[in-house]
Amino acid sequence: MSEFTQLLVFLVALPPSYLLLRALYRITFHPLCAFPGPKLRAISHLPHAYYGSQGIQAVAVRDLHRQYGEVVRIAPDLLSFMTPSSWKDIHGHAASKKFPKFGYFKVRADAQPLLTAEDKDYPRQRAALSHGFSDRAIAGQEWTLKKQIDVFIKKLGEKASAHEVTNMSEWFSWLTFDIVGEFTLSMKFGCVESGENHPWVSTLVKWFRATSFAANANAFGIFAPFVMLFANIKDLMGIKIHLQRSAEKVRERLEQGEVSGKADIWSYVLRAQGDKSLTMGEMEVNAAALLVAATAPVSDTLSGAVYLLAKNRDKLVKLREEVDGLAKSEEDITMVLTGKMTYLMAVINESLRCYTPTPGGGRRKAPPEGATVSGYFVPGGTIVCVYQLPAFTLPNNFALPETFLPERWLPADHPDRPNATLSDKQEVFQPFSVGPKACLGKGMALAEIKFILARLVWHFDFELVDNGFAFEKQRAFLFRERPALNVQLAARNR
Ligand code: HEM
Repeated sequence: MSEFTQLLVFLVALPPSYLLLRALYRITFHPLCAFPGPKLRAISHLPHAYYGSQGIQAVAVRDLHRQYGEVVRIAPDLLSFMTPSSWKDIHGHAASKKFPKFGYFKVRADAQPLLTAEDKDYPRQRAALSHGFSDRAIAGQEWTLKKQIDVFIKKLGEKASAHEVTNMSEWFSWLTFDIVGEFTLSMKFGCVESGENHPWVSTLVKWFRATSFAANANAFGIFAPFVMLFANIKDLMGIKIHLQRSAEKVRERLEQGEVSGKADIWSYVLRAQGDKSLTMGEMEVNAAALLVAATAPVSDTLSGAVYLLAKNRDKLVKLREEVDGLAKSEEDITMVLTGKMTYLMAVINESLRCYTPTPGGGRRKAPPEGATVSGYFVPGGTIVCVYQLPAFTLPNNFALPETFLPERWLPADHPDRPNATLSDKQEVFQPFSVGPKACLGKGMALAEIKFILARLVWHFDFELVDNGFAFEKQRAFLFRERPALNVQLAARNR
């Protein structure tokens, strides 16, 4: 064999030999080799990335937890936990400083939104934005919200009178988009009024897909840019368009400065001065991120709740009894009143459990010295996460997990609380995450969902027209990719 041939054989054999040796190392000597999970997942990131590209990553992780238990090695350096204590150990106040976010896609190179801000930028941004999400700020939104729900109810009333099938998934998208348009940009999108998709709404779906793809690509380390070559170009363009539009609208809004009587987020943000303020780039990119973060999970929750209530009419009747019992007239339905409706809150919790809008889990990287998560020592550099779908829907944590049972969220001494659910591990149910980087919009989201659902139930009866919304047929990229939720609405006789 000539020297050239020898070199060629060496070069051809090198990559497969490297991959083989690396695979052997990953299943025998790797610091995570003692954690349970399939061998293929221990060897390669590809299975996890593949399920991600199909929109069924969380479902696949749930199946692994079902087989392997409370902690699973779902990729060579990635552990998924589903225990209550893992939330605190990974995301809690003390842990949060040690476990940085990992794999989040930075949609803009020169300015980050809160979700991907790092180091000193993070607390500065969180402080500047949080005033806009305070209880006072939420209460200040009530009037605008009420007006928007009035239009929503009026339009649905027309559909009911005409006996038309209504795709509630679509209507909830339009309503939440209208609401967040006013809140983040003081803009009237008018989706509900026109009963049509605003062109902007469809670019958001592209954002979910592209950012979800990028999060999976990031797991491939130095090969991530190569993997990104396979990203859908239309989805990536969707991000660009959305960023551009948001930037234009924020500039328009900021030119007006603080406007009296206007209670959008900028009224609060603009009060932060000097080194506490946000840069123009940060305001632009935060507006873009909020348009996504504040619409998709809220419309997911509302759609999930309507689907589950329509399938479980006894729960719908019970909810209606509570709303009717507390509100003597429609005008009585306020944020304060809906805050007192315990069964309504139980329905929302149970909808979030059965149909969590974020079925995956934010990834975090263990500190160099390693850390203990849920009693397991996790070596430094390991990526850890709590996937919400398995944590909320497996029998390890909830009795009768497949059953829509709002009563499980009633107090333990409530006569309607089923005994079987007294052993539920409720602390694992954290749809908004926990700790200092948990959802900033939790209070606003819950206030909005309660208000909308109470008004809907007050006005309408609804029945499913088909089962196209069945959860098991759906895909998720960060948030749910919702199919049509076709219902027949009927105005209630009063
Ligand atoms: C049912 C509705 C909602 C759910 C289930 C939800 C869930 C979450 C979760 C799980 C996170 C943590 C993400 C991570 O660590 O990777 C998060 C973060 C965030 N959410 Fe929500 N969210 C909802 C509604 C909203 C709304 C209405 C807003 C704004 C009006 C909002 C704004 C944010 C922001 C700004 C963050 C980033 C927080 C940070 O990194 O400090 N969310 N949300």
